[in-house]
Amino acid sequence: MGTGLGTVVVTGAAGRVGSAVRVGLRGEVERLVLVDRVGLVAQSSAEEVRQLDLRDVEAVTAALEDADAVVHLGGVPDEAPLPDLLDGNVRGTHNVLEGARRQGVGRVLLASSNRLTGFYPVSETVTAELPPRPDGLYGVSKVAVEALGRLYADKFGLSVVCLRIGSFEDAPSERRHLATWLSPRDCLGFVRAALTAPGVRFTTVYAVSANTRRFWDIEAGSALGYTPVDDAEAFASSIPPDGDSAECDLQGGAYASAEYTLRHV
Ligand SMILES: NC(=O)c1ccc[n+]([C@@H]2O[C@H](COP(=O)([O-])OP(=O)(O)OC[C@H]3O[C@@H](n4cnc5c(N)ncnc54)[C@H](O)[C@@H]3O)[C@@H](O)[C@H]2O)c1
Repeated sequence: MGTGLGTVVVTGAAGRVGSAVRVGLRGEVERLVLVDRVGLVAQSSAEEVRQLDLRDVEAVTAALEDADAVVHLGGVPDEAPLPDLLDGNVRGTHNVLEGARRQGVGRVLLASSNRLTGFYPVSETVTAELPPRPDGLYGVSKVAVEALGRLYADKFGLSVVCLRIGSFEDAPSERRHLATWLSPRDCLGFVRAALTAPGVRFTTVYAVSANTRRFWDIEAGSALGYTPVDDAEAFASSIPPDGDSAECDLQGGAYASAEYTLRHV
């Protein structure tokens, strides 16, 4: 595919999604700048490593120099005490957007989450236009992430795509994944589409595989130019059933339980 994507910065490059994006974009970029607070080692002459804390706006801005796009994945990926979420997700995202504004970066991808709408019932097909119903404090931090993206698009003209990532797994391993799974192949498809879709000022898309049981609308994703191909249904017979509980009726499942948040309060 050549080096058509130019210079792409990936934050959280040492993480689960970041590692897959790093490998997936190889051969499609001229330069890949890998940002994480964890040390990484460049694996080719096209890779550059920046070990930094996303809370440091000057370091983030410097890492974004000459970037065509940033895929912002760094942060706290699950329920945590609110101060940690504000620091890692809200402050970190603000710094990435601010760095992108200062450096004139052409496209910003923000990792949002399905957990922003985890309190909707499984019986409802949720679109990105519906109001947030976070299933915990982590989901609340992602509401702020998306709002920051919207602000920087509206006020400063940045081009921002928020990907509400489903459950990123090699294969579904629990009942909820039959609806929420995002396969590695589809994850890369959404990221590529979000990097290349023309004429975007701001959009929010559920990044989920083509699961028969999905409860999120993927029409907006196909408007970005990507239609997912994998379906968790192929794994359905190998996944044990859940016990009966009220949380099973909610899209966030066990994440929506009071206990899941109270351990961090
Ligand atoms: N994995 C999923 O299924 C999933 C689902 C929905 C949303 N997401 C979102 O996708 C993104 C990536 O998730 P993941 O599963 O790869 O998480 P991960 O924890 O594996 O990776 C996150 C990376 O960010 C880095 N990081 C955290 N705080 C940092 C800071 N202050 N400065 C610099 N680096 C920092 C960590 O070192 C880590 O390498 C997150 O924003 C997460 O909320 C993931």
